[in-house]
Amino acid sequence: PVPVIIDCDTGVDDALALLFAVRHPGIDLRAITCVAGNTDVDGVVRNTLTVLEQAGAPDIPVARGAERPLVEPARSARHVHGGDGMGDLGLPAPTRTPADVDAVTLLRREILASPRPVTLVPTAPLTNIALLLRTHPEVTGNIERIVFMGGAVEIGNATPVAEFNVWHDPEAAAILLTAGVPITMYGLDVFRRVVVPGPLVRRLRADPDAGTRLAGELLAHRPSAPDGDPGDSEAGGLGDAGAICTVADPAGLTTRLLPVEVALAPGPTRGQTIVDRRARPGESEIHGEDRETALVDVALDVDVSRFVKLYLSTVGR
Ligand code: BDR
Ligand code: CA
Repeated sequence: PVPVIIDCDTGVDDALALLFAVRHPGIDLRAITCVAGNTDVDGVVRNTLTVLEQAGAPDIPVARGAERPLVEPARSARHVHGGDGMGDLGLPAPTRTPADVDAVTLLRREILASPRPVTLVPTAPLTNIALLLRTHPEVTGNIERIVFMGGAVEIGNATPVAEFNVWHDPEAAAILLTAGVPITMYGLDVFRRVVVPGPLVRRLRADPDAGTRLAGELLAHRPSAPDGDPGDSEAGGLGDAGAICTVADPAGLTTRLLPVEVALAPGPTRGQTIVDRRARPGESEIHGEDRETALVDVALDVDVSRFVKLYLSTVGR
């Protein structure tokens, strides 16, 4: 199995990602780190521990990370994820506490201890990851790839052009993109499209297994599945869970290596991921460029039914 660490802001769809990661036989989930995003970081830790207990995987280490972005104050997404950050499903409080080390320390320890290079999957603002890369740059030697949910080639969600995770901490995203490790950007363009149809959500909700049922409840909570059938009110988007599906089944995603830059200036473009689609393989002349930008594998297309099937067969095993 692929050694994986998830950095998340659980989060309805982060929870869907965790449920998948703990149940997929090709993924060895070695640690989970938490960061402020969808809700405050203590809420994220609580939600994450609860999800693991419901999924029957209580032993994976969980650490608390940054409580605010590098530069700006935290801004929650409670309007999307409910008052508790996870859909207000009335889930029980967790029975255990997080690791006694902070997220950056746990990330460093687990990455360096892994016998095989680790795939890092951030599904949240990139604050913890930026702190890790700046504090312990030696970890990049044992990182296979960073597959992050964030950014958008086309349309944003937090603003007309910026996706929430990048918008919440644009400086951190810029640090990630220039870290010099292979990066896959699982942005809104594909994120929005992977939707589980209502009848399948209903089947999950009726399952005898608590973890499977939780996946159904979370999908049912997802506010109006963005790119689904408008007549199917029970459909739910996989959201962040799509990013972890690509680790289990890379062939489900079509990417292209393109220059990506984060807009950092204050104003209406802040947090936008500017993807340069002018570039063509073998074409050297792009006029007017006076600086280097990071090359990122940008997700441009996704096999929706393949990922929906993969998700259901894994979580509803
Ligand atoms: C991202 O923001 C959060 O609300 C979701 O969990 C996802 O990671 C989408 O923009
Ligand atoms: Ca998230």
